[in-house]
Amino acid sequence: MAISKKLFNKIDCVKIENVTKKYGHITAVNQISLEVCGGELLILLGPSGCGKTTLLRTINRLVEFDEGRILINGKDNRDFDPVILRKNIGYVIQQIGLFPHMTVRENIGLVPKMEGWSDAQITQKVKELLEIVSLPPEKFINRRPKELSGGQQQRIGLARAMVMDPSLLLMDEPFGALDPILRKQLQEEFIKIKEKLNRTIIFVTHDIEEAFRLGDRIAILKEGKLIQLAKKNELLVNPADDFIADIVDSKKKFKHLEDLTTSDIMIPLDKKYFFESDSSTDLVIESMVRKDIELGIVMQKGKLLGYIKLQDLYQKSDKNLKHFIKQSMVFEPLDSIALALSMMKEKNEFIAVVVEEKPIGILLTNEILSRLI
Ligand SMILES: Nc1ncnc2c1ncn2[C@@H]1O[C@H](COP(=O)(O)OP(=O)(O)OP(=O)(O)O)[C@@H](O)[C@H]1O
Ligand SMILES: [Mg+2]
Repeated sequence: MAISKKLFNKIDCVKIENVTKKYGHITAVNQISLEVCGGELLILLGPSGCGKTTLLRTINRLVEFDEGRILINGKDNRDFDPVILRKNIGYVIQQIGLFPHMTVRENIGLVPKMEGWSDAQITQKVKELLEIVSLPPEKFINRRPKELSGGQQQRIGLARAMVMDPSLLLMDEPFGALDPILRKQLQEEFIKIKEKLNRTIIFVTHDIEEAFRLGDRIAILKEGKLIQLAKKNELLVNPADDFIADIVDSKKKFKHLEDLTTSDIMIPLDKKYFFESDSSTDLVIESMVRKDIELGIVMQKGKLLGYIKLQDLYQKSDKNLKHFIKQSMVFEPLDSIALALSMMKEKNEFIAVVVEEKPIGILLTNEILSRLI
């Protein structure tokens, strides 16, 4: 397979040394030093404008910095041809910019094609990647972006970033634009994908929950400076200053689970999530894609029947929506979260519905657990 050049088979270390980037009088990145180790997922966290994107882009040289240096496996990233460097580093952003006139296969296969892969090789690789991001290849390989929901497009963006098997992946708020429930689902999937792939990942977010859920270590930036880089517990126990303490404070209040009820922690449901049990599966798929949701609540005559997942609906051709419904555990808004969690764990359930006359919210076990850290 002709790839112009494989620069790194695996990443042992990305070392950022005293990097500074100025835009006129604004110092977007101010003397930042940090090290990311092979296989680690490092989060860059901080308020808007603190320099996260700029720092991330200095690594693949979409931004040329003014001072300092960046070593990848001990080699200065300015010694590489920037185009070859970028082919070796996966990059995922919020507006992933799929080409609208191209199919999923063509979008993912763009770089391999330029690299001279054969059609058969491209198809095989695209299928493999679609499996990894939970989109059945036979259903998706020939679609165009407008036939995909935002969550599906984001998965394609991830697949595209991985097509050249980069050992380093840079991700800039990849789930930032998604509906909150979908966002949580994609985060969960992403944790699994991450384990399968064992890549080194630098991931930008300004969402503390996302940072704690996904990160091995978290680097917190403020006004271009790195304030603290530590493991999650360290941030909670030993925040470097009041700024960090404020940021992690929202996590602390979840430490006393026994005081919390399901309604404190549920993700509220609005009407877009509701479907009637006699709807046809095809129409429900179309509607979920249009609304950009991947989980739905199925009702019959005002009563809760259970929930459906978009991914399941694709698995077989069956017009009858009822065959896809999963029964869910049900809790009341004032039930304690500790009780809900232990019952869900006992039954091995990941999803439960909070009902007050009608369903008002959902509980996801991983979401609850991530708040316990
Ligand atoms: N091309 C540019 N020209 C001028 N100033 C820029 C440029 N890119 C970024 N900046 C400035 O640099 C600072 C850091 O921007 P950056 O995009 O890195 O922040 P961020 O932490 O990613 O923010 P957000 O969370 O909003 O994405 C900001 O003050 C921004 O206005
Ligand atoms: Mg940014």
